[in-house]
Amino acid sequence: MTDPHLTVITHPLVQHKLTIMRQKDVSTAGFRRLLREISLLLAYEVTRELELTTTTIETPLCRMQAPTLEGKKLALISILRAGNGLLDGILELIPAARVGFIGLYRDPQTLKPVEYYCKVPALDQRMTIVVDPMLATGNSVVAAIDMLKARGARNLRFLCLLAAPEGVARMREAHPDVPIFTAALDERLDEHGYIVPGLGDAGDRMFGTK
Ligand code: URA
Repeated sequence: MTDPHLTVITHPLVQHKLTIMRQKDVSTAGFRRLLREISLLLAYEVTRELELTTTTIETPLCRMQAPTLEGKKLALISILRAGNGLLDGILELIPAARVGFIGLYRDPQTLKPVEYYCKVPALDQRMTIVVDPMLATGNSVVAAIDMLKARGARNLRFLCLLAAPEGVARMREAHPDVPIFTAALDERLDEHGYIVPGLGDAGDRMFGTK
């Protein structure tokens, strides 16, 4: 059954690259390169509903009405820090996009996400794509989307690489109006909040930290 809230991007190139990325022996450089490549393919799907208008152009042969993107440039919002890995690739495809960053940390007492940074472009009337590779508990993305809606965002999408059923359920409850795009829906979260089978800590793998 298709779920209008969740799109799993099953393109063979996406699935093949994701399989390589999951493997624990892939180098930092390899992981980063694959993430950049896969983000181009994911961006293609998540922007499928961008609106088009037409403009008059001249080819070497004649004038024609040709399709062109309508409306305001879209906005990409990266949830720090792992979101930046998806952001870099998407910006190669959509270099004119406006870009925002949201930083959240987890309060050790309440375990709730707390904002430490938020700088975003004007969001009303713009398609706004929030990016974070791992949809685990969903707490960060739900908080980030709360912040973006408070700043006027209405036309939102969330793009990740891997999703856990727990995170999808949390998003569906908190933000049923925000479609999720992912390359895979994995089995579950473990007791530390990691996605299983997953790929480990996406930020550590892309930046070579531990
Ligand atoms: N964040 C990660 O980087 N990996 C997970 O598995 C879950 C959250």
